[in-house]
Parts: sequence; C-alpha cells; structure tokens
Amino acid sequence: MKFYINTPIYYVNDRPHIGHAYTTIVADTLARFHRLKKDDVFFSVGVDENSQKNVQAMEAAGEKDLVAYLDRMAGVWKQTWQDSGIAFTDFIRTTEERHQRGVERFWNAVKKSGDIELREYEGWYCVGCEAFKTETDMVEDKCPLHPNKNLERLKEKNYFFKLTNYRQALLDLIEKTDFVQPESRRHEIRNYVKDHLADISISREAKSLNVGISVPGDESQRIYVWFDALLNYLTVVGYGTDEEMFQKWWPADFWVGGKDILKFHCALLPAMMMSAAKSDPLLQNKDGGALLVKQCFAHGFFTIDGQKISKSLGNAIDPRDLASKYGMDALRYFLLREITFGEDGDFSEKRLQERYESDLGNTFGNLVNRVIAMSKKYFDGAVPQGMNQESGIRNEELCAAVNHAYASHRCDSALAAIWVGLIRANKTIEEAQPFKLIKTDPLAVAKILYDLLEACRWYAWMVYPVMPGTAEKIWAQLGLDREKELSKGWDEGLQWGGLIPGQPLGEPEPLFPRLP
Ligand code: MSP
Repeated sequence: MKFYINTPIYYVNDRPHIGHAYTTIVADTLARFHRLKKDDVFFSVGVDENSQKNVQAMEAAGEKDLVAYLDRMAGVWKQTWQDSGIAFTDFIRTTEERHQRGVERFWNAVKKSGDIELREYEGWYCVGCEAFKTETDMVEDKCPLHPNKNLERLKEKNYFFKLTNYRQALLDLIEKTDFVQPESRRHEIRNYVKDHLADISISREAKSLNVGISVPGDESQRIYVWFDALLNYLTVVGYGTDEEMFQKWWPADFWVGGKDILKFHCALLPAMMMSAAKSDPLLQNKDGGALLVKQCFAHGFFTIDGQKISKSLGNAIDPRDLASKYGMDALRYFLLREITFGEDGDFSEKRLQERYESDLGNTFGNLVNRVIAMSKKYFDGAVPQGMNQESGIRNEELCAAVNHAYASHRCDSALAAIWVGLIRANKTIEEAQPFKLIKTDPLAVAKILYDLLEACRWYAWMVYPVMPGTAEKIWAQLGLDREKELSKGWDEGLQWGGLIPGQPLGEPEPLFPRLP
C-alpha cells in the first residue's frame, strides 16, 4: 500500500510558529504511523513563494533582492522542520523549475478543456488572503480577516477559470463521498459551493505584480498564486517532469490543513482537477474522471492564552523554543492531545507544564521507570520468566482501538486510549504491590512484572508515531535493539510476548525529567 500525505505549503512572509507546527506534526505523525504499517509513504511539505505577501514582507524588512529573501526564508522553514524531527520526504518551493513546468502543463490542460477565458475584472483584492473579496465578504470596506490592511481595487483584464461549470460535480463529490472532513466542515463547504460559487480570476497583469509564474503563451499575465500553489501537491511527485513517479504517487491520500483554506482545497482544486483531467490522461482514473486527493481534513485554529497568534502580540512561538524546554516529543504529545482534532482550541504553556508533569512524568515516565527498576532489582537485571495473561494488562481491544484511531487520522483519540491503558497499568502496581509481594510470592511477581514490561514495549509502539524519541528510549531501557524492533512493523511489533525471558534489561532513566 502507498500513502501520500501533504500539508499546506506555508507563506514565507514570516517564520514558522506553533500553529504551522501543529499541522505539520499531525501530518508527520500520520506519515510515521503508515511507515510503521510498512506502507510506502511520501510526505511532502513546502513553501508558497509566488505571493505578494512575501514581497511586502521583504520590503518591510528593508530588503530589495527578492530571490535572496525567498532563498533565505525557504531555508528557515526547511531548517525548522528538520530541527523539529519532521521526517518529510520532500520539501517543495513554488519557485522551483519542476513546479513551474507542472503548472504550465496543467494550465494548458485546463485551457484545452475550454475552462479559461479572458474577461474584464473589476473588484477588491485582499493581499492578506491572496483572494478576491465580494461586497458580501467585506465588513466596513475591509476584509474581516485582515482589518488592518486596505483592500486593493483592481480593474484589469484577467484570465478566468469557469469554476461554476463544476458546481454540480463538486456538490456530488462533497455530498456523496467523505472527501471533506470533519462533518461540520462538509456542510460549510457544501453551502459555499451551492450558494456562493463564482467563476474566479486566475491571473493578474504582470505589470502590477513582481512575483508569479507567467501565463503560458501570454507574458503580460501572471498566474494567480492559489492556482499555482495548489498544484504543488502534484508537482512535488513529478507532474510535468516525471510521469512514472507521478503515476506511482498520485492521487494524494490525505491532506491536512487549517479550516481557513479548506475552500481552496475542497472546491477550487478539485474543480481545477476535473477540468484538467478532461484533457490530460495522466490525471484521469479508469473511468475517465479526475484523480482527486482522496480526503481533506480541516483542523481548527488555536489561540495562545486566548489570543490570536500574531507577530505584533509577540506570541508567535517558534516550536523549537518550546522543544528546548520540554523536548520535542512532549510538545508533540501536548499539541495532539490538548486540541481535539477538527475543533478550535487554546494553547497555554501552563497547560503544557501540567500535562508534562502529570500525563508524561507521573503516568507514563513513572510507569516505565518503576517497572524496569523493580524487574532489574528482583530478577537479576533481566526479563523475568512468566507471562500472566490474567493480569488485565494485556488489552487487545485497546490496541485495536489505537490502530483504528491512527488509521482514521485521529491522533488525539489514539493518545486518549493509550493513556487509559497506562493509568490501568499503574493501578495494577498499586493493587498488586509487587514490592511487598516479592517477599512471599516471587513467582506471582515474575508474572506481573513480565506483563508490565511487555506493556512498556507495547505502549512504546503505540506512542511511536507521536513520540518516536521516547519510544526508542523505552526500547533501549528494555534492552531491545532499535533497528530490530522497528523492522518488525506495527502488526508484528504489537503481538503480545515480544520480550524474551532472561534477556538483560537496559538502564532505567527518567523519560521526562523534572522541569527546572
Ligand atoms: N500559503 C497558503 C497555503 C497554500 S496551500 C496550497 C497559506 N499559508 S499560511 O502560511 O498562511 O498557513 C496557513 C496554515 O497554517 C493553516 O491552514 C494552518 O494549517 C496553519 N496555521 C496557522 N495558524 C494556525 C493556528 N493558529 N492554529 C492552527 N493552525 C494554524 O495559507
């Protein structure tokens, strides 16, 4: 099985903050889960460079060389994800040649399908959204999302994409399939397509812009940034440059991003694909329809201590700053656990500290530490003989629930289920009191501790997609070889009884050290 997943490509007008990190961590977790399942995984990330926002940011920084600015900022984004342990397969920049070639091919296909037309455009444009605004979108002559910026009045000849030709096809896609998730968003997109869909300008006069890909055959026009950016999901896997690769990976299996940009992904992009597929066989499925991204999931937005994340408020936290304090695994755990996937939420460092101390330190770290320390002490530093299936620690149902949660993209539910198991395991220790029982019934203690050690190995597997570093530490403390353990894959790794009695244990060390 192949699994191709992408995140939005972010604007480089600013540095990455934990909002962007959240989306990227969700995708990384799902990619890691699928790798454990032994799927062939492609996980793409990247940056959206052909945007006026980027030019304005460069100017505001007092710089003049756009290429140098874009190179530097693209580097900042890539480095941030690398430093954060995001295991992406490829990082695409929309100023790359390979991307431009794909965009040109795609434009020509849409044109051949008869869906592009030159029209006179007059209206309002919001650079913040990189989108046209109708009178109904506006509040007091401003874009409600960017009240500090004035809208630009445009009167130009532009190429239009006949989006409304695809209204019915989009409604069918949205209503009859699970293309848009979660359900609440499906309704929102459906209403938008039903009542508000309009043909859309997909180019701007080159003289009024200093970024963007030229319209094939018309140097006087540049391609609208969203039309270009949305195609990154195709070009990063070879559309326009490498047919074989493209056929291997396309269509993408899963897209995750914020609710703010769902319309572009669930209305504009599929309509563009339906149009281009009519003229480009590479984009067609067996029945001649378009090969579309299989599913789009819009997560919510979170605030920080109740406030919108913004540069001017100074709360646009770099994920690496938090990671240096709590560890990247703890930050990943916190973001995925604290924010219900699909809903809005709030981030607060105080909550992060609380969860670090209770969920991670007291519940998870303590369990692993006590179990390994007791086993070493009572059984000569090795895994004891005994496998007590009555102890209630082995829980196949929980394991299946975790698998199901990850497979249906619910990292938050997976973690909630795992923590039920961890709390249960801690309770077993409280109830059985192996530290007392050892004096009278070492055989019983051997059985309990075998199961608890095996549970540690198990839970390490289950948290791996979210907390890979922690899982590896646990395996090392259990005396397991990382490569050997990982090579088993999820299904074999989660067969109960993987620990061999008599095998020497490693050194117990706190997984989540006390905060200074
Ligand atoms: N460049 C476009 C996307 C093009 S995709 C073909 C763009 N870029 S962006 O830099 O503005 O990133 C927006 C995305 O960042 C959101 O959709 C979301 O994934 C993430 N987030 C930004 N702030 C966020 C929060 N406060 N909370 C959660 N996610 C956030 O739009």
